[in-house]
Amino acid sequence: MFQLTTKSVEETEKIGHKLGELAEPGMLILLTGDLGAGKTAFARGVGRGLGVKGPVTSPSFTLVEEHHGRIPLYHMDVYRLHSPEELIDIGYEEYVDSEGICLIEWGDLVREMLSAEHLEIKISGVGAERTITFLPYGAYYKRLVEELTTSVASSSGDGNTHA
Ligand SMILES: Nc1ncnc2c1ncn2[C@@H]1O[C@H](COP(=O)(O)OP(=O)(O)OP(=O)(O)O)[C@@H](O)[C@H]1O
Ligand SMILES: [Mg+2]
Repeated sequence: MFQLTTKSVEETEKIGHKLGELAEPGMLILLTGDLGAGKTAFARGVGRGLGVKGPVTSPSFTLVEEHHGRIPLYHMDVYRLHSPEELIDIGYEEYVDSEGICLIEWGDLVREMLSAEHLEIKISGVGAERTITFLPYGAYYKRLVEELTTSVASSSGDGNTHA
């Protein structure tokens, strides 16, 4: 588990950016947290870190947005699904079997449909402060979070982070 606090939307995007830089093909990332927590802001940072040029906006109406960066990014928002099984209807199986990265806002709502091995990123907070918690499930994601911890610590050095 790795947890840190951000004090602005830009700071949250910056953490996402670092994850985007470290991201590898085939990753599965769940973004969880209440309405307006900052899931899309974090996803935008991931897109930037992957080198996505165009806008990374909320896929809450389209449900999935495909972006072309260093690795393809499939950004989904499953809030509006009526049941977890509808994940299949939006093309999930094809996305998850590809070399791209699946990033799912409200992923906890469809957890039963997902591989047990994934990275959950939970965002919570009020005002402009957000606590971002990285919960890796499986050895692969544990290693990734360790790398991210190192990357964030080496660029901030403000003692704001702890493993
Ligand atoms: N530290 C912070 N990190 C991220 N967002 C912040 C922060 N402080 C304030 N905000 C604001 O919180 C909002 C986050 O919106 P965002 O669309 O990213 O949330 P979301 O979790 O994707 O919401 P939804 O559940 O509707 O998809 C933005 O208006 C942003 O400016
Ligand atoms: Mg959103």
